[in-house]
Amino acid sequence: MSTREVILGVGGGIAAYKSCDLLRRLQDQGFGVTVIPTPASLNFVGSATWEALSGRPVTTSVWEKVDEVRHVSLGSSSDFIVVAPGTADLIARIAHGRADDLLTNTILASSAPKLIVPAMHPAMWSNPATVANVQILRDRGFFVMEPDHGRLTGKDVGVGRFPETSRILAEFNSIANPVHDLIGRKVLVTAGGTREPLDPIRFIGNRSSGKQGYALARAAARRGADVTLILANSELPDPSGVSCIRVSTAQEMFEKVDQAFDGCDLLVMSAAVADAKPLHVSQSKIKKGALTSIELAANPDIVSTVSSRKKNQVVIAFAAETSLDIEEGKRKLLSKSADILFLNDVAGSEIFGSDQNQGVILISDKAQSVQEINVDRTDKDTLADLLLDQALHRLG
Ligand code: C5P
Repeated sequence: MSTREVILGVGGGIAAYKSCDLLRRLQDQGFGVTVIPTPASLNFVGSATWEALSGRPVTTSVWEKVDEVRHVSLGSSSDFIVVAPGTADLIARIAHGRADDLLTNTILASSAPKLIVPAMHPAMWSNPATVANVQILRDRGFFVMEPDHGRLTGKDVGVGRFPETSRILAEFNSIANPVHDLIGRKVLVTAGGTREPLDPIRFIGNRSSGKQGYALARAAARRGADVTLILANSELPDPSGVSCIRVSTAQEMFEKVDQAFDGCDLLVMSAAVADAKPLHVSQSKIKKGALTSIELAANPDIVSTVSSRKKNQVVIAFAAETSLDIEEGKRKLLSKSADILFLNDVAGSEIFGSDQNQGVILISDKAQSVQEINVDRTDKDTLADLLLDQALHRLG
């Protein structure tokens, strides 16, 4: 088998020296590695170090070795690009399609999967500009790791630390050696928050962003499943490789799930579904003086309704609570005839809209006893894979 080629892009942060170890570990795994440092990063680790470690020539500008058109030749011959460390400036330049050095030119010219390993001061990482740039990259299919929490170069402590090499390699390997254990499975995922209209302007809704269900749909598709995502009122774009149906109300979501359920192997009900809707929907805007009370009618409980007729399907439900009440989670799991339920505490709104999640996975068995798996704060993609692992175990 021919060697798989990795481009290691190095940004201008002090963590550049830690990428020397990453380069070695990638070589240990049999990858051929070409290093492309940004000019600024040479202040931390010079070309001589990279050339010696990689055994390959190192250039930083498109004006070197012009006859080789290196950005195109490197971009098209690489199987993966890893950017480590990804500084705030480098992330911004990549997000905005800049091409002002060899690395950014190569990234633009390459269709290979790209992993970015950020490292910067916590204030820079949490700055809205960086947050928006990271989001742009994730929406375009870049894998952007969460930096670690810990001591930074100065005395500050916070989120922004370059992750341990082992964590970077684990992330890289899940991209480089994808698992296709859901081939032939039909997976139905709901995500987002339903909206129940009151009049043409107002609705009853909730804070769900759809990110967890979106991560589940993407993970299932990556693992080979045939995925349908029923997405309610989310600003997220349609994920690639997934058939996406947009709905708004609980009733619309119910109809789509009801139609698709019998043909699916796994239902993941991660949508936040409004339990009730206004009994009367006004055709014109309700005047302020008349808006004193809203009479409600119950919505169908989608997961309970379809689960009651399940044959071999596995059903994952979610319970967003304002405290981590395990007994309540267990009650919900069993009363909704689900097989797995992810229970979390969303008080303090550090979950809705966030890229991270934490809680407890509850798994029922035939004897109605429930197993608990604690999930410490992790990114929604990792949780998606954990839930799919459990579902797969149950699917057999
Ligand atoms: O009872 P609760 O709303 O907390 O249950 C949450 C779970 O039930 C989620 O999986 C949600 O998608 C699902 N649900 C549903 N239909 C409803 C309300 C919630 O399927 N009407």
